Amino acid sequence: MVLAYSGGLDTSVILKLLQERLKAEVITVTVDVGQQDDFAEIEEKALKFGAVKHYTVDAKKEFVEEYVFPAIKANALYGGEYPLATALARPLMAKKLVDIAKKEGADTIAHGCTGKGNDQVRFDISIKSLYPEANVAAPVREWGLDRAWEIDYARKHGIPVKEGIYSVDENLWGRSVEGGILEDPSTPPPEEIYAWTVSPEKVSQPEDIVIDFVKGIPVALDGEKVDAVKLIEELNFLAGRHGVGRIDHIEDRAVGIKSREIYEAPAAITLIRAHRDLEKFVLTKWVLEFKRLVEEKWAWLIYHGLWFEPLKAGLDAFIDHVEASVDGSVKVRLYKGHAMVVGRESPHALYEHELATFEASDYDQSMAVGYINLFGLQSILASRRALGGR
Ligand code: ARG
Repeated sequence: MVLAYSGGLDTSVILKLLQERLKAEVITVTVDVGQQDDFAEIEEKALKFGAVKHYTVDAKKEFVEEYVFPAIKANALYGGEYPLATALARPLMAKKLVDIAKKEGADTIAHGCTGKGNDQVRFDISIKSLYPEANVAAPVREWGLDRAWEIDYARKHGIPVKEGIYSVDENLWGRSVEGGILEDPSTPPPEEIYAWTVSPEKVSQPEDIVIDFVKGIPVALDGEKVDAVKLIEELNFLAGRHGVGRIDHIEDRAVGIKSREIYEAPAAITLIRAHRDLEKFVLTKWVLEFKRLVEEKWAWLIYHGLWFEPLKAGLDAFIDHVEASVDGSVKVRLYKGHAMVVGRESPHALYEHELATFEASDYDQSMAVGYINLFGLQSILASRRALGGR
């Protein structure tokens, strides 16, 4: 078997259980998508508790270029708020697990997801899409494991437990925090749960940054070309120190449960805001209107684990086509939890000063009258009828 292994409580317990109950030979796989973990320590732990082999896969560059960049182009926010950090990383992890399973001749891929969340949906569908012959094992879900039982089992088997009260998932695109007091949706999140952002009320100096985009993708920060991973890391730091990217919202999970979710996503919120502004500058109003529908569907598909669904590729084709002209720079002011766009430039801008100005210009104002009469024709007629007129 190949097991998606984070080194946390669930996957450590599973590693032991799979050997004990199924006599399985387990290969553990940890995919590095930018979480702040000690990967050498994770490997050591896996081998110590019986993994026959361990892989650490550095997928940071692939994650940013193949998963995060399309999300920026799609301005992807599920429920209008969640930048999808966890949801974007799951199909990439599934791909790595499948590659290793095929290479090692493993017939089963195991993960530590519960039966309550979205991650099981994302893992199962992605794995089955890429490797239909494989079995998927989800011991927490199948054997109904709970936290108290797991902690007890871990203690009995000498597995170190350093789990806090919160359930945290982290990658370059964001950090999610669930559990504990956060399960009471009426209580404001305690400051202790935040790790990437300072409290917005504590910062007093505004800071302006400039982000350059080429074909909808961020390529430079303050005029300097930066590599994809570095750019996201840098923006998490810069925007995070202004308290940008804290999200507290109610989410509709794939399985129907409503949950209270806390996220920190400073780079994601800053980049999507800047990118959306640039699009408004260069795309026609018809493209913008239609793209909103595409974006909503794109985020919905990713959230629900349908990364490999043909509709997603179709939407990407539309998005890539219209992003061809999304080049330019956006100036963003970071201040007290806000990332405000305060300036934009583009060689493809559809903004014409000559047209927009209040000063005298060649624009023939008399053209507007015919347009308004025809445009309003039916609405005016309908109102007249409603008033009893003809
Ligand atoms: N609600 C978020 C999502 O569905 C976060 C999930 C966090 N996952 C985790 N295993 N802690 O994408």
